[in-house]
Amino acid sequence: MTDYSPLIDGVYVLAVIFFILGLRAMASPDTARRGILAAGVAMLLAILVTFLVGGLTNFGLIAIGIIVGGGLGWYWARVVKMTAMPQMVAVFNGMGGGAAAAIAAVELLTAVSDPTNASLSIAGAVIGSISIAGSVVAFLKLQGWMVQRAIVFPAQQVLNLAVLVVGLAFGVLTVVQATTVWLIPFFVLTLLYGILLTLRIGGADMPVVISLFNALTGIAVALDGFVLVNGELGDAGYAMVVAGILVGAAGSLLTIKMARAMNRSIGSVLFGGFGAKEEAATAIEGSLKPIDPADAASLMAYANQVIIAPGYGMAVAQAQRKVKELADALEAKGVSVRFAIHPVAGRMPGHMNVLLAEAGVSYDKLYDLDEVNGQFATTDVVLVIGANDVVNPAARRQGSPLFGMPILDVDKAKNVFVIKRGQGRGFAGVENDLFYKDNCRMLYGDASAVVGSLITALEHS
Ligand code: TAP
Repeated sequence: MTDYSPLIDGVYVLAVIFFILGLRAMASPDTARRGILAAGVAMLLAILVTFLVGGLTNFGLIAIGIIVGGGLGWYWARVVKMTAMPQMVAVFNGMGGGAAAAIAAVELLTAVSDPTNASLSIAGAVIGSISIAGSVVAFLKLQGWMVQRAIVFPAQQVLNLAVLVVGLAFGVLTVVQATTVWLIPFFVLTLLYGILLTLRIGGADMPVVISLFNALTGIAVALDGFVLVNGELGDAGYAMVVAGILVGAAGSLLTIKMARAMNRSIGSVLFGGFGAKEEAATAIEGSLKPIDPADAASLMAYANQVIIAPGYGMAVAQAQRKVKELADALEAKGVSVRFAIHPVAGRMPGHMNVLLAEAGVSYDKLYDLDEVNGQFATTDVVLVIGANDVVNPAARRQGSPLFGMPILDVDKAKNVFVIKRGQGRGFAGVENDLFYKDNCRMLYGDASAVVGSLITALEHS
């Protein structure tokens, strides 16, 4: 039989290099597409060369899996709306975690005859199961198919801990007794733990948890890779180890960064139950005051500086190109225009950056929260476009589900114009007192239409 080992090893090394270069390129929006392509090519190479690994069987089933899985993934990624991206990421994460748990399950079935890999497989199975079960709950919450806030009930922490500890105990029994009889209760309880853990998380904390499950899936895949390296299909494990470690490390760093951006510790996101209760209706002083686009446009035309704060509504309305046109029109009138970007504005990390880059807004006009917050007090007009939670001053109020989340301090500007369709609340479901303040005026309507009216009004001002 031909020994393909040198070819296989060579292709795996090539794939690993592509994975690393791909990840590096994803660090900047200019090169991100190239990065995705490089990582995709790496994965394709790794999959194709795995067919040459000795001892592989069930080619028909594998081919069906690739065609069905690849086809569905390709189709869904093509049709998904940008605003539904977090749900898609949650599902894809979950699939990775589920696949890792399934590989670990197969390895554990052989634990009786060969216990070498049992502990590694148990670790992979626990992490993979939590990741798939948690991701499914995250998907249902983000899709709006179940209540989005954190679900909290008495003695929940004790129950969660008990489920995890008993589940792990079944795992330990599987390893120690080299038996498969405990596998079903082990998987049932670890999956249940993933569900219970995610039920307790909601509202504005969801981005952090999606990123965490991404990291967990990477770690589970890496652990399975080690199991394969130790077993008969040794070669096939190397690419999984590297890809898993890259996803695990990058996902962990992203989780830490997102938690910091939300001013939360990972512990408080996972166990704090933030946003569990609807905020008790606090009487908000003031009233909602609409303004005509023509009046708003003329105030902006005479401003020295306008800051645009975009949010999820800009993505829903796909208004980014119109927003760029508006910025150009203002600049043509000598107004300095900047964009204030909140780290969790929209529904995925970097959502606003991607949309504005697609519309051709140059990166030096985009300001992070830390850079821009000091500028609002000296700004003539802030135009909030479909943002709500990220500009909600309730985040400064103890007892609010948003308490502690850093916000764009747009309420400090001289004039604030808010574009939104009506009285809809933000993702966290908290009433926004910004809209009632004396310096705030509402521009009601779809973001794309209202920005269009502002451009027209500017042309005539
Ligand atoms: P949101 O708080 O979700 O508020 C969006 C606002 O846009 C709504 O109040 C809505 O009001 C308005 N809107 C919707 N469609 C519109 C349209 N076509 N035209 C004009 N306005 C429209 O948005 P945000 O301030 O960007 O905050 C993001 C939230 O999502 C945060 O709580 C964040 O934690 C969460 N989240 C973020 C991510 C990531 S990673 N970015 C992922 C998951 C969740 P009307 O209905 O009245 O129009």
